[in-house]
Amino acid sequence: MKSKPRIVSGIQPSGKLHVGNYLGAIKNFVDLQNSGDYDCFYFIADLHSLSETYDPRKKREDVYELLASLLALGLDPNKSTIFLQSQITGHTELAWLFSTVIPVSELERMTQYKNKAARQKTNINAALLTYPILQAADVLLYNGELVPVGKDQEQHIELIRVIAKKMNAKFGTAFPESKPLFTHAPKIMSIRDPQKKMSKSLGDAHVLNIFDDEASNVKKIAKAVTGTDLNSPDAKSFLALYTHFCDQNPSGNFSDMKAELTIAFTKYFLHKRETYLELLNKPKNLDVILDKGRAKAQPIATETLNKTKQKMGLL
Ligand code: TRP
Repeated sequence: MKSKPRIVSGIQPSGKLHVGNYLGAIKNFVDLQNSGDYDCFYFIADLHSLSETYDPRKKREDVYELLASLLALGLDPNKSTIFLQSQITGHTELAWLFSTVIPVSELERMTQYKNKAARQKTNINAALLTYPILQAADVLLYNGELVPVGKDQEQHIELIRVIAKKMNAKFGTAFPESKPLFTHAPKIMSIRDPQKKMSKSLGDAHVLNIFDDEASNVKKIAKAVTGTDLNSPDAKSFLALYTHFCDQNPSGNFSDMKAELTIAFTKYFLHKRETYLELLNKPKNLDVILDKGRAKAQPIATETLNKTKQKMGLL
């Protein structure tokens, strides 16, 4: 029997999940898992998240919150391998080995690096630059063939292929040429500034956090920018949300539609939110889930690492 194609993807623990994260990435992770057609590896990219300015006292909480969110939204440790990046020795080690084949200039031209460097001028650390090397290690450590990501990660996935090809040519390794798997979900824009992608870096008013209490989301939806009619460009993202959550045709009366979206949104996440809060209350159970993921991921990581070190001339 031919084994199922392996999927690898990661998500950074850096604050609350918003509806853009859900429709753009996590829903896709869940659908791919439930299709039964893939061997899915999903991890929390805590090491990547250290490259941006953060509070070490909050990181642990962010990790647990993200894990509880992923589980509440449908990721299942019995179907997918769910793990924490920093608990698997091998990600950083493989990244070091990869860093020997990739010119600094290739890293310096990455759009995301340039944007982040512009955003945090006082903290342009080396990890911000080498970030895509660690991402390549994340995927190739498990010989990931498919990588579900947003369009913004296209350049990083391209770099994974460059690294795989260089490694294979130079050292005779057999890394796959991983391909991105883009979601078909429409890009969700800020509810306050529909010209910009929904992102918490724009400020809290711009994002609908899926596990926030109802009252705060009711207020935010009421203030959403929609343009004047269904055809205005500003209505596009609001309509995408409306059509996803509401089971009816848009009337064009935005105040009615906002009320409908509020009800539908709340209903959609109600049970998931309860599950999320229950999970968060029992961090010990979350640790057990991470242990289970680690036990599945570690042997594969060790094997890849050993093979690669050998091919590269290490003892
Ligand atoms: N860079 C990705 C993002 O910001 C997160 C990530 C880290 C990732 N490692 C990965 C995604 C490996 C896919 C595969 O969205």
